[in-house]
Amino acid sequence: MTNEKKVSEAIEYRRSIRVFKKENIDTGKVKECIRLAALAPTSSNMQLWEFYHICSPETLTQITEASFYQNAAKTANQMVVVVARKDLWKKRIVSNIRFLKDSYGNKPVSEYSKREFFALNYYQKTVPSLYFDFIGIFGYLKYLYFHILGFFKPTYRESRRSDMRVVAQKSAALAAQNFMISMSAIDYDTCPMEGFDSKRIKKILNLNSSAEINMIIACCIREENGIYGERFRVPMEEVYFKI
Ligand SMILES: Cc1cc2nc3c(=O)[nH]c(=O)nc-3n(C[C@H](O)[C@H](O)[C@H](O)COP(=O)(O)O)c2cc1C
Repeated sequence: MTNEKKVSEAIEYRRSIRVFKKENIDTGKVKECIRLAALAPTSSNMQLWEFYHICSPETLTQITEASFYQNAAKTANQMVVVVARKDLWKKRIVSNIRFLKDSYGNKPVSEYSKREFFALNYYQKTVPSLYFDFIGIFGYLKYLYFHILGFFKPTYRESRRSDMRVVAQKSAALAAQNFMISMSAIDYDTCPMEGFDSKRIKKILNLNSSAEINMIIACCIREENGIYGERFRVPMEEVYFKI
C-alpha cells in the first residue's frame, strides 16, 4: 500500500473510534491489514489464531446485537473477529514440522545439523508436552513437576490449561494490534471491543466451544465526533522502570 504513515505516526493516529462515518471501506485493503496482522510474533510460531472478516450486513447486524448495540459496532462498515484457537495446536504442530522438513530439503535425519534437530525435536516433543492435557489434570501434574524443579533451577512454569489459554490469547492480541496499526497507517479506523456475548458470537460464526473470541474490531473511518475524549495515559513514571 502506498502513502502509508510511519509506524510512530500510525500508532499516534490510532484511537478507539466509537462513531464511524457512513462509508464503505475497501475490503481488499482490510484483508491486507489482516495479512499483516498474521505477521505478528506468536508463541512457538503456533499461530493459534483465526480472523473472521465480517462484511455481510446481516452478520454485522447480528454481531452488533450480540455486542449490546454499542456505538462502535452499530456504525462500523466491517468488523474483524480475532479468535484464539488453542484447540488447533496439533494441526499447527504438523504445519510447523512440515515447514521445517521442507526447508531442510527432506534429507535423512542423520544429516540434520544440531540446530535443525533441535528445532524438529521442539515441535515433536516439547510443544506437544506443553499443550497436551486431559481435562486439566495433566496440566496440574506438569505444573507441580515444574514447581518442584523450580527449586533447583530456572524453570518454565506456565503449563496448566489456563496458562496455555493465556499463551494463545497473548499472541492473538499481538495480531489484533498489528491489524489496528496497519489500518491506522492507511487512514482507516478501528475500535477493539470485548463487550460482547461470546457464546452468541461463536454461534454466529459457527465456532466450536473450544474457540475463544479474543476481540472484535470494528472498522471504518472516524466521524468527527467519533473520539470520545482526549487520550488519557497514566504518567510514564508510573509504568516505566529503568533497571
Ligand atoms: C481488549 C480491549 C477491549 C476493549 N473493549 C472495548 C469495548 O467493548 N467497547 C469500547 O467502546 N471500547 C473498548 N476498548 C477500547 C478502550 O476503551 C480504549 O482502547 C482505551 O480507552 C484507550 O483509548 P484509545 O484506544 O483511544 O487510546 C477496548 C480495548 C481493548 C484493548
